[in-house]
Amino acid sequence: VERLDAVDSTNDVARARLLAGVVAADTPLLIRAETQSAGRGRRGRAWLDAPGTGLLMSLALRAGAGSPLSPDADRWWRVAAEFSLAVADAIEDAAGMQIGTVGLKWPNDLVVRNIEGGVTRSFRKVGGVLAEAGDAGSESAWLVVGLGLNVRGDVSKLDPALAATATSLEIATGRPIDREALFTDAVARLEGRLGALAEGRFDVANWRSRQLLEGCEVELEGGAGEAISGRVVGHDGASGALILSVDGTERAILAGEVTKVVRIAIP
Ligand code: BTN
Repeated sequence: VERLDAVDSTNDVARARLLAGVVAADTPLLIRAETQSAGRGRRGRAWLDAPGTGLLMSLALRAGAGSPLSPDADRWWRVAAEFSLAVADAIEDAAGMQIGTVGLKWPNDLVVRNIEGGVTRSFRKVGGVLAEAGDAGSESAWLVVGLGLNVRGDVSKLDPALAATATSLEIATGRPIDREALFTDAVARLEGRLGALAEGRFDVANWRSRQLLEGCEVELEGGAGEAISGRVVGHDGASGALILSVDGTERAILAGEVTKVVRIAIP
């Protein structure tokens, strides 16, 4: 782990370390910063933070012997999935939440469910993941997986547009969260998960069971920007695809963004 104070983007620092050749294939490097001046989100969005309120971190991985990156780049999505799972497990532990309260919104958003009577009534995003890869197929192939988590504070102060959909962990749970303890626990869990991935084991059961969108009616924007709506009938543990039923036909969506959850599945 390398800890920094203020950076432009931890993803950029991670990439710079990879290009400088200081990351060994069997020892991924985690960069953590207190604040970012140019944090990036998915799809060209910005990721805003107030200093000292979140966890901003990027994992730098290089392909090669002993690496969690499989030789087949079609499996690299699993690194981002394991990162989200490590953080989801750590959050539930830190906040004393019931298992399953933290969900994954495909592909890798971390959300906190509002559960009433065993049923998810609504949810708010607390974290997101941005993966960037380079030199695919070559000896020097690399992957950066950046994860941002809002631990405390009011995100609507950063951007009023986030007020309806996003929040911080402390606001969602109504409990104080020890950021350092959460970080230490998440890193320990991540190490275990990356070790398992390097041995070819992916935690498909936990990945499936945390999926928020299972059974939901959604609208999404596919990788090429096309609008698609349908019902989520599965999450494919081999390809990472979201499986949608669209007018009775199943479609596997490999990349995209769910723009609207029309109906939350019950339970
Ligand atoms: C998203 O939900 O759109 C993804 C957000 C990813 C934000 C994290 S914060 C640490 C890392 N550095 C960045 O510039 N982005 C990621």
